[in-house]
Amino acid sequence: MSYDFDAVVDRRHSDSVKWDRYKGRDVIPMWVADMDFRCAPEILAALHRVVDHGVFGYAHAPDGLTACLLGRLRERYGWTVEAEHLVWLPDLGAGLHLACRAAGDEGDQVLVMPPIYPPFLAAPKRSGRQRLDVPLSLRNGRWAMDLDAVARAITPRTRAVLLCNPHNPVGRLYTAEELRGLMDLCRRHDLVVCSDEVHAELTLDADLRHVPTAMLSADAAARTITLLSASKTFNVPGLRCAVAVIADEGLRRRFRGAFAGLVSGGNPFGYAASLAAWRDAEPWRLALVDYLRGNRDLVERAIADTPPLAMTHVEATYLAWIDARALCADNPAALFEEAGVGLMDGKEFGAPGYVRLNFGCPRSLLREALDRIGRAVGGATIGHDAAIAGRQRPGRLPGSL
Ligand SMILES: Cc1ncc(COP(=O)(O)O)c(C=O)c1O
Repeated sequence: MSYDFDAVVDRRHSDSVKWDRYKGRDVIPMWVADMDFRCAPEILAALHRVVDHGVFGYAHAPDGLTACLLGRLRERYGWTVEAEHLVWLPDLGAGLHLACRAAGDEGDQVLVMPPIYPPFLAAPKRSGRQRLDVPLSLRNGRWAMDLDAVARAITPRTRAVLLCNPHNPVGRLYTAEELRGLMDLCRRHDLVVCSDEVHAELTLDADLRHVPTAMLSADAAARTITLLSASKTFNVPGLRCAVAVIADEGLRRRFRGAFAGLVSGGNPFGYAASLAAWRDAEPWRLALVDYLRGNRDLVERAIADTPPLAMTHVEATYLAWIDARALCADNPAALFEEAGVGLMDGKEFGAPGYVRLNFGCPRSLLREALDRIGRAVGGATIGHDAAIAGRQRPGRLPGSL
């Protein structure tokens, strides 16, 4: 079966958070992380079945969904998870907050590695914890966890690490070796790890394999809360369904205890869509990853040809993290918005001067956005050093790709 990811779906009248931000304006929205593709036919059919039933009472996760997820984790990663280790959630954001509350006490520290998806920055404080920032490092054109800095930063009050793998926004898929380094520190300092792996099935480089943090060792399994969802990969984030995998009984009890009337379970649409996604929509996912890989290559070439903008290679996710610091703009996101492209401001991720571009959209839209970015940079004031560097690299306009 072939899927038409080039089809442009008009989302302007669908109460879309992404599109309505720029209602009535000629701005291509490439900010919040949902994609502009219709989802897999198998998911649509499953949702129709729920609608046709016509009764929408409270729902629990279907047995078939649990069995399907456990089978998928075993097949993809060789990861054996027991049904009782699963805690279903309405979304991953709730999972991040619950993880902070499940680790330590009020005033304890939760370590995060910016630049990072904004709720990672908000969750510790909202959960009565202190946030301990240890920025990623950029070495040889590759973002990485700075494990030496992590080791130095940990104090007796540090209780947890919020890990994002693949990492939103920098698009890194951490290697087993990098993860082992982190987990070794967590073992030595007895830290809980919340490993958000929602983008794992959006690994774009064919030679890379996602390694679930909890699989690294028995110790890692016992201290890890893994957050998963079909939402990003299968483009159903609005249906609100996620799951935490927590092998350790005590940690699971503390996590559930933190619900405290604030978090409810899932809903029939989210469960049905997740089951159809994981059980039936693998051909769609493979075609999607192929298409996103093409979009990723287009973005990387366009940005390389638009100095002084720069970006690193995106190994996974549909997000490009673009360094716009050499533009003399207080707020590069505003500059691009003015030029008709809605990006996320790096400030929200803890890194002013950067912008995040969501390339989960039909290629025609992406080309138009890259054209506009090229024109915006052409008209912007560029820092002196960057201008010299730019002159040394004769650039093609993104539109010529
Ligand atoms: C790493 C990561 N975690 C969590 C989320 C949010 O998921 P949810 O809408 O289920 O809270 C996102 C959304 O972009 C994300 O990229």
